[in-house]
Amino acid sequence: TPTQTLKEKAKFKIGAAVKMKDLQNEANFKNAVLKHYSQITAEYEMKMASIWTSATAYNYTAGDYLAAFAKDNNMEIHGHTLVWYDSFPEWFNNAKYDSIAFEAKVKVYITDVVGHYKGKVKSWDVVNEVFADGGALRNEAVINPLFKDPIGFYGRCFKYAKAADPDAKLFYNDYSVVIDAGKRAAIKKMVTRFKANGVPIDGVGDQFHYGTDTNRQTMKTGFTDLASTGLLIHISELDIKVNTGKSDSYVFNDAEAQKQSETYKFITTMYEELPQNQKFAISTWGVTDKYTWLTSFWHSKEYPLLLDADYNKKPAYQGFLDGL
Ligand code: XIL
Repeated sequence: TPTQTLKEKAKFKIGAAVKMKDLQNEANFKNAVLKHYSQITAEYEMKMASIWTSATAYNYTAGDYLAAFAKDNNMEIHGHTLVWYDSFPEWFNNAKYDSIAFEAKVKVYITDVVGHYKGKVKSWDVVNEVFADGGALRNEAVINPLFKDPIGFYGRCFKYAKAADPDAKLFYNDYSVVIDAGKRAAIKKMVTRFKANGVPIDGVGDQFHYGTDTNRQTMKTGFTDLASTGLLIHISELDIKVNTGKSDSYVFNDAEAQKQSETYKFITTMYEELPQNQKFAISTWGVTDKYTWLTSFWHSKEYPLLLDADYNKKPAYQGFLDGL
């Protein structure tokens, strides 16, 4: 039998973060997405700072393009992300709303955007990265007072999203969830609080921006602990750093490629061990080593994805596939 692609073999969605311009400008990019993946996420175009261009205007151009691309190609699109401290538009931050006005504004935004994509975007990261490393709330002066009552601001964000599209699956998303026990405990506590107060949460995403040096036993222990919430589990932004020491003289050779492949295999194997009803998707944060956020956010010599810069399958691709 011919080798299966990721989406053919997986019994859950295989997602990729994409940018509209890469889909439009590069046939190889588009073809790779179509060949290997069954879901897309906008890498940045559906974040608040991209959509909410002014107090009176939304820009849905790229989001609509991506939603149509998904529909036309029988894929799903995962919405990322409604509320993220790092993506409030500048005009919004400059307005210096007090807590009450702040929440009223965010409620309108969530209602409008989820309503706009109702039936098209089947799942949303409602809230991204509430907790700092170790599990303390981020120091958000406006938001934190709103977190103190039983449901809290973030819980109400889930309710606003649910009201706008009752069928959408709603996720909390964060990074280092499976390796940071303090952060994970804070997330589990929030989930318990949500459930006790009727907040509609369907799943938790761990971004999975890890490296070949990330301790596997730690990952596994944390993953099992996260799964004990019983929620859907999304590996939401998977990429595996190889140049973990940020070395300028780093060479991505066969041995390094093999190490990376093993890490990918470990992760997909771990995901497969979830109960079937908790599987949602594994999404890679990008498609090809040609375009990865890590070359600007980490090191210019970084090769974190499944396809190389020429769109050939790397050993990582096979490792990912072997774990499925
Ligand atoms: C990153 C994108 O990849 C970049 O292109 C953008 O400039 C900044 O954001 N966690 C997240 C993602 O939830 O939204 C981030 O994406 C990567 C870290």
